[in-house]
Amino acid sequence: MLTRADEKSRGLADLPPVESDSLLALIALCDADPRPEKIDVGVGVFRDGAGRTPILQVIKQAERRLVETQTSKSYLGSAGDKRFTELLRPILLGEHAYDERIVGVQTPGGTGAVRLGMELIATANPGARVIVGTPTWPNHAPMILASGLEMAAYPYYERAQSIIRFDAMIEALSEGRPGDVALLHGCCHNPTGADLNHEQWAKVTRLVVERGLIPFVDIAYQGFGRGLNEDAHGLRGILSACDEVVVAQSCDKNFSVYRDRVGSLFLKTGSREASETAMAHVFQSAREMWSMPPDHGAAAVHIVLEDDELRARWHVELAAMRDRINAVRQRIAAAHPKLAFIGGQFGMFSMLPISKEQVLRLRENYAIYMADSGRFNVVGMSDDQVDRFVAAIVECLDG
Ligand code: LMR
Repeated sequence: MLTRADEKSRGLADLPPVESDSLLALIALCDADPRPEKIDVGVGVFRDGAGRTPILQVIKQAERRLVETQTSKSYLGSAGDKRFTELLRPILLGEHAYDERIVGVQTPGGTGAVRLGMELIATANPGARVIVGTPTWPNHAPMILASGLEMAAYPYYERAQSIIRFDAMIEALSEGRPGDVALLHGCCHNPTGADLNHEQWAKVTRLVVERGLIPFVDIAYQGFGRGLNEDAHGLRGILSACDEVVVAQSCDKNFSVYRDRVGSLFLKTGSREASETAMAHVFQSAREMWSMPPDHGAAAVHIVLEDDELRARWHVELAAMRDRINAVRQRIAAAHPKLAFIGGQFGMFSMLPISKEQVLRLRENYAIYMADSGRFNVVGMSDDQVDRFVAAIVECLDG
């Protein structure tokens, strides 16, 4: 065992190697592949039919306006752009937008929101366990553990049959202790694309209330599934039923501003005063981690949402992204009975029932890059790559 003195005597050169996040490592691997036919269905970035990730026209227009009208880049404080967070309320919270017990803060992307939310849980109740679905987004566990919280698991998805393991999920959540946190995906489940239906949401909500669990809803893809309101259905039901809720939200995907890191964290407690006190702790954690969130992307989103015409045009551009996601899904689903399940799922991801070795073979033999788990981004490929993708997958499934 190391003593404190031993630790001090170690230098930076003694650091052990790090296993890099598989999704980020995949970007680098694919970039380095010289084969022109390569298909990148790894990281979750929307691409259009031509394989590009264009900047939304409304964001371009908002950025132009920003350049012309912004008079200062002075500090905004740990809360970031307060008006940005206010403008998100009706989109995210719907009928709960005017609930004063719900307070929000701007964060560096959805990742910043998840991390900040976990820090808050750890501050409020260091003994809380975070109960996480299997599988989940690969960055959830590292962030939970980095916040010093313990983790437990609930089964979520049966990959071989492409179905949600709902009964097992309910059973595992039933064992949660009061004060434990249930991490739930608001919509467009990452990595499986398998979303709870309304009845399932109602059951989970009832259970969370009965067991005294705190629901932590991660909603990074609102608008990519069925629509902005439909995708928030589960979250809003949770807000109706529960006194304490944490919500991590992202605009990175639905405004296509990935690298600008635009997100928010919302909290609900039983009273406005308690929510404000909780938020003061959040500001303190934000100050310790990044002091204040980056402004540019949120400022552009703010301009879009503040302007009726731009907001209406954003709805159209968002619907076009959603329509493409769903059209590619249907095209893949229609190609082979073994792929039919993809047509009934939502958002950017689905998970293929293939082994890590098969994923590696797809990479080597066909230059198809997907996560080791078999997760692939349905809109990672361009329109003219779909047939080749499907043929390779079918061969892999049949082989
Ligand atoms: C993904 O899951 O691919 C995205 O959320 C990007 C990321 O940060 O991992």
